[in-house]
Amino acid sequence: MQNKTIGILTSGGDAPGMNPAIRSVVRTATENNYKVIGIKEGYSGLLKRDFIELDNRSVGNIIQQGGTFLHTSRCPEFLNVDVQKKAADILKEAQIDVLIVLGGDGSFRGANELAKFGTKVIGIPCTIDNDIGSTDYTIGFDTAVNTAVEMVDRIRDTSRSHSRCCVVEVMGRNAGYIAVESAISCGATAVLVPEFPYDIDSVVNTILESEKKGKKSFIVIVAEGVGSASEIAKMLGDKTGITTNAVVLGYVQRGGTPSNMDRVIAAKMGYMAIELINKNIFNQVIVRQKGEILPVDIQTAVDTKKKLDSFSLDIANTISK
Ligand code: ADP
Ligand code: F6P
Repeated sequence: MQNKTIGILTSGGDAPGMNPAIRSVVRTATENNYKVIGIKEGYSGLLKRDFIELDNRSVGNIIQQGGTFLHTSRCPEFLNVDVQKKAADILKEAQIDVLIVLGGDGSFRGANELAKFGTKVIGIPCTIDNDIGSTDYTIGFDTAVNTAVEMVDRIRDTSRSHSRCCVVEVMGRNAGYIAVESAISCGATAVLVPEFPYDIDSVVNTILESEKKGKKSFIVIVAEGVGSASEIAKMLGDKTGITTNAVVLGYVQRGGTPSNMDRVIAAKMGYMAIELINKNIFNQVIVRQKGEILPVDIQTAVDTKKKLDSFSLDIANTISK
């Protein structure tokens, strides 16, 4: 007998690993005799009642696919309390007992608002930005960084051959996690992030000092939120006298087949979401803290601001010169 109905949606920016997470939720749920309703296009699809019943076969052959087969959306009207109430009513009418939300910080805020209208919710953190409070890791980050690293390595080959500098813009409108991690991994000469102010002259000095020590080419990684890569490249080129190009990596970082790490964490988080439902524990976000997968209260998760650790930034800046 199916004794609970679970709704699942993906919302906000897609992230590689959303598909394996949906698969894990669906297959763990069916094992526990729960019915699963996929809600298309995030909160927009919920408001349109765009529902599809999911079984084990519906989530076959998606484990290796980037993006989200349920589709996603930004749904600005969901900031409106009346719209949130309407969504909670739609879930009640559809007899959906628990809503599992896969998304980033904004999507969790939406889920938290639904919880205030009595919807039982569980969040699974999925965003390439890795910027959700209470969790060390968000699904999609590893894949996005691996893509950025591969691209920067290619850029480095040509920059080195021509003794040039390249400013590479990576994603992260408000967060510098992709920038810092890829800077460490690629040996970038400098990294600029939205969380900390930067001084263009100190970047110029770092480049010129490294040049004096024999360095021939330079990579400067800039998070999207810092400003225009081409303007920064122009300033650096003018001030250093070194030919400086700009490359914006953009959406290549958000697509692509999920890495092993993203698949495994997605499997664990999806499984834990259903375990919580089995125990009647709701309004939680599944997080990873110090390597352990565990639940935290959703209100705590949305109230906790994640801080980029200056330790990683110091490492990136120290070992690059
Ligand atoms: P992400 O989940 O990746 O951070 P967004 O910030 O765009 O992406 O949020 C996704 C969606 O979540 C928004 O389009 C909106 O529908 C909903 N949302 C975001 N912030 C809130 C909020 N404060 N209250 C209610 N819903 C929100
Ligand atoms: O998914 C996260 C993110 O890539 C941010 O780094 C970026 O600011 C934002 O999404 C851009 O998303 P879109 O262009 O789809 O609105």
